[in-house]
Amino acid sequence: RWQSSLPQPDHVDRSDEESGGEIDWDNLGFGLTPTDYMYVMRSSPEDLGAFPRGELCRYGNIELSPSSGVLNYAQGLFEGMKAYRRPGRGGYTLFRPEENARRMQFGAERMCMPAPSVDQFVSAVKETVLANRRWVPPQGKGALYLRPLLMGSGPILGLAPAPEYTFLIYAAPVGNYFKEGLAPINLIVDDEFHRAMPGGTGGVKTIANYAPVLKAQMDAKSKGFTDVLYLDSVHKRYLEEVSSCNVFVVKGGVVATPATRGTILPGITRKSIVELARDRGYKVEERLVSIDDLIDADEVFCTGTAVVVAPVSTVTYQGRRHEFRTGPDTLSQELYTTLTSIQMGLAEDNKGWTV
Ligand code: COI
Repeated sequence: RWQSSLPQPDHVDRSDEESGGEIDWDNLGFGLTPTDYMYVMRSSPEDLGAFPRGELCRYGNIELSPSSGVLNYAQGLFEGMKAYRRPGRGGYTLFRPEENARRMQFGAERMCMPAPSVDQFVSAVKETVLANRRWVPPQGKGALYLRPLLMGSGPILGLAPAPEYTFLIYAAPVGNYFKEGLAPINLIVDDEFHRAMPGGTGGVKTIANYAPVLKAQMDAKSKGFTDVLYLDSVHKRYLEEVSSCNVFVVKGGVVATPATRGTILPGITRKSIVELARDRGYKVEERLVSIDDLIDADEVFCTGTAVVVAPVSTVTYQGRRHEFRTGPDTLSQELYTTLTSIQMGLAEDNKGWTV
């Protein structure tokens, strides 16, 4: 049986008194600041696809067989979530955590892995937040980002599902994702590289979707762009998503976003923004959105857990730069404020989205 050499906590210090070390809360960005504890839970062959029990451990390196399924065949998934410090009343809020649990279960089925139950997942997230509570940024300065992982940690040589699985959650305090902060971003459309193909794994949050976008992303950054917007791999004409977030276009009173048909990540922020825009009286269409629709749009924005709602000021396609509306009177700004007010516990949550 695969054994971990993880140092075990003598006790978990849940005190909120001490702040997170020497952190400069005003300049967080999206870098890794290691925190105190992580949550680890394993499933072995004798557990028959269940995860019997998990525990908090000191944050630290984990031991993996060189022949583990995740290292050799990318049998792995991840999630992204945020915990905010609540104003006044104390405590912390999570945003729709059961949606992340269900998305992990859906992805696990595609990647032939067992997954924790929704209750196990959500309790583990809560435990991780509470154990690392001194790292939750002060109100308005950012969030504690939670990174649940599910991986084939058992050894396997021939191509097959791994014999053992590890579910792990670690946490890090974060601020804005893009170096632009909350300022509008500049995208370039890549029509050479693709993020996903029909029948592939673009619609699940497998780790294998992310390394392949690095080359195009590095190239785009070297030319001064913030990130890359991908087109579909068949027609090279329809929008898919940006490397780390979903995309929306706005024209008049109509908001459109690419439908999730297996090649696009079903973002939880995406789904929430669709609902919030409908509540505001916009017609929201989940459909094929062509590059021509984008060029013709008034406004373009991206959504994601890390990204939240990011306005796009320019998109460059085939050497031409197209500009879009940004600023205080835009829909993206309105949606950003509405969403983050719910997430941070500043506005009434009539939808029951926060925990
Ligand atoms: C997130 O938004 O949480 C993600 O998982 C995207 C990641 C590439 C930062």
